[in-house]
Amino acid sequence: MSEARKMPMVQGAASTSMKHESAILHVTGRANYIDDMPEPKGMLHVVPGLSTKAHARIVSMDLSAVRSAPGVVRVLTAEDVPGENEISPVHAHDEPLLATDHVYYWGQPMFAVVATSRQAARQAVRLAKIEYEEKPAILNVAQAREAGGDLVWRPLVMKRGDVDAGLAAAPRRLSGNITMGGQEHFYLEGQAALAQPGEAGEMRVWSSTQHPSETQHLVACVLGRPHHLVTTEVRRMGGGFGGKETQANAAACLAAIAADLTGQAAKMRLDRDDDMMMTGKRHDFVVDYDVGFTDDGDILAVDMVLAARCGWSADLSGPVVDRALFHADNAYFYPDVRFRSEPLRTNTQSNTAYRGFGGPQGIVAAERVIEEVAFATGLDPVTVRLRNFYGTTDRNITPYHMTVEDSISREIVTELVRRCDYAKRKEEIRAFNKTSRYIKRGIALTPVKFGISFTATHYNQAGALVHVYTDGSVQVNHGGTEMGQGLHTKMVQIAMREFGLTSDRVRITATTTGKVPNTSATAASSGADLNGMAVLDAITKIKRRMIAFAAEKWNVAEEDVQFLPDGVHVGSDVMTFQQLAWQVYFARISLSSNGFYKTPKISWDPATGRGRPFFYFAYGAACAEVSVDLLTGENTMDRVDILHDAGQSLNPEIDVGQIEGGFVQGAGWLTMEELVWDTAGRLRTHAPSTYKIPACSDRPRIFNVELLENAPNQEETIFRSKAVGEPPFVHGVAVLQAISDALASLNDYKTCPKLDAPATPERVLRTAMSLRGEID
Ligand code: MTE
Ligand code: MOS
Repeated sequence: MSEARKMPMVQGAASTSMKHESAILHVTGRANYIDDMPEPKGMLHVVPGLSTKAHARIVSMDLSAVRSAPGVVRVLTAEDVPGENEISPVHAHDEPLLATDHVYYWGQPMFAVVATSRQAARQAVRLAKIEYEEKPAILNVAQAREAGGDLVWRPLVMKRGDVDAGLAAAPRRLSGNITMGGQEHFYLEGQAALAQPGEAGEMRVWSSTQHPSETQHLVACVLGRPHHLVTTEVRRMGGGFGGKETQANAAACLAAIAADLTGQAAKMRLDRDDDMMMTGKRHDFVVDYDVGFTDDGDILAVDMVLAARCGWSADLSGPVVDRALFHADNAYFYPDVRFRSEPLRTNTQSNTAYRGFGGPQGIVAAERVIEEVAFATGLDPVTVRLRNFYGTTDRNITPYHMTVEDSISREIVTELVRRCDYAKRKEEIRAFNKTSRYIKRGIALTPVKFGISFTATHYNQAGALVHVYTDGSVQVNHGGTEMGQGLHTKMVQIAMREFGLTSDRVRITATTTGKVPNTSATAASSGADLNGMAVLDAITKIKRRMIAFAAEKWNVAEEDVQFLPDGVHVGSDVMTFQQLAWQVYFARISLSSNGFYKTPKISWDPATGRGRPFFYFAYGAACAEVSVDLLTGENTMDRVDILHDAGQSLNPEIDVGQIEGGFVQGAGWLTMEELVWDTAGRLRTHAPSTYKIPACSDRPRIFNVELLENAPNQEETIFRSKAVGEPPFVHGVAVLQAISDALASLNDYKTCPKLDAPATPERVLRTAMSLRGEID
């Protein structure tokens, strides 16, 4: 076991609320994004030409007018790709960078214009004359099923016990379905890349990517070069949310090809509409469920089929849909269970990672099942939840045969029920609804249990490179990327704590494949878990050398050399970190080290549907109270209370920020964000004018977010913290169910409203009419 992993639970420096390392730069507009970088002399601009059919054979592509347009230097088509015209991130070989003989969705890149200005390139793109022979387009889950159900990935089956027997024997049984929409990432900074050619085939790419190593590999692939000639660098992203885990690659590859063929630097920064037309989004799902239960609300058997609109290529759909299955139990033990996936191919954008990575979709389905059982039995949904939580000693095996060792759902839910006064407020709301004709109020309290680790086991590794300079300042490099979540801040805190330094002595460099190679995407919420341990490992190695040196030179025991905020203690002497660093250098001892970490204990075999895919679970619960206006269908969030488990938080304020932001994004997904494709397969919601995301004024009127106290991770994670990036997104489900609870008042809480997501005003009104028996 490495030194790093033996670290005891630590309070102090690393667990304080230091502000985000770029906070001042962010708010003063001095944080650099790719489009802020000084442009190299002669830099060219790249703009893609997108398909205007959802599925067609390309009969002819006449680009002569494009080529002769003012400012155009070069036009790129599939034949111009120097290496392989292929950017599938999962080696499915189903994702050409530029279309060849067919297009598979409206918005697919077919060619790219390289011009002296962005404006010139944008104007030239419109001059293309393309003749298509249209083919039938499959746009959604229903059409895909009807056409035979072509899949982008192997379907997954998880089962435990005998679900058919369990259902047949259950005293009560019900079935139903829920659909939930997709979601646009709406990162503030759109997809962007700048490529600069070097000598002898070198290519340097600044990319707004969550996954610099993959971008490096795919740029190398399209250029036909070995990886060592390509370097990717990321200072920060203006938001990623999963939308830059793979979707950044096309821009990086096109910019690199343009730079390679012209010998000039080239930049591609997508226009917002092009970005929304071209790139993949959250998967929308249709989930069918069949449930067996008792009059007491004990769930006995659950059978679910989870079908997703994956889009035209595999991208990350396989693992995303798998993760939906991994979370279709949420926090509940199902004695007999079977989950099946249908990752369906459609002629739409290739759906991709989005905060929660399919997990939220599984949990929304699980919570609908709870809601159904509650209405069927007349019990409060919270009562049903409490009856079915995973146990700690029995009833603790998941549908994928992992033992849940850390279940705290019951404690968290019980505590939140108490803190937010759930029972009393619920009574008040019921009384209010009796007399209020047009405004109906609702309340719901939902839990989350979220699995932490990449389910692709090999991704759970990280590297770091730490340099101590002779003036005692420290540079920390690691494989993770910063997208606003505060990862770099947490890494600075680790170095501060370990070396006893102030924040101005520690600098995190931009993430680059030249310093830490073969990294994983910053995703699956595991950025701090993985990179934090790698950084700690590197620091520990350097410290060990410094300690050995000091102990020998000043003749003290190694335990008597300590790095504290007031300096390095060597026996009874105290010296500055800088003084010791200089002495160590002078003695010709290295002050630089790499670090490495791999997550222990995990394994997963999709063929058998068994393993321990997650190192641990993150838990939490949310209670939402809403008002629904029956005249307009609109809702407001009157009050939201969240209790969330971040273990021994590395930075409580940043973590609370992640919870607040995640919750609002989750609530936006389930209540207002709606993607609409027309019958020709053209996305009609491709700008902020037509796609509504939550505004500041949509936040809950009362918003109480608390971290679970005294809850160190029982696994040996970095200072016993827990990952926090994605799990809180799921708390948005409380809002959907609160709206549902408000609507249920319309027929005296007799039937489950079966509200689909997003609960837009239209859908709310339709559900209200059906509850009143005005429509089916
Ligand atoms: N927070 C901000 N501000 N911006 C982001 O893009 N992405 C989320 C989450 N929080 C995101 C964010 C997603 S999808 C993930 S997986 C995690 O941050 C990734 O970072 P972490 O692993 O360091 O938590
Ligand atoms: Mo997050 S969806 O894992 O980038």
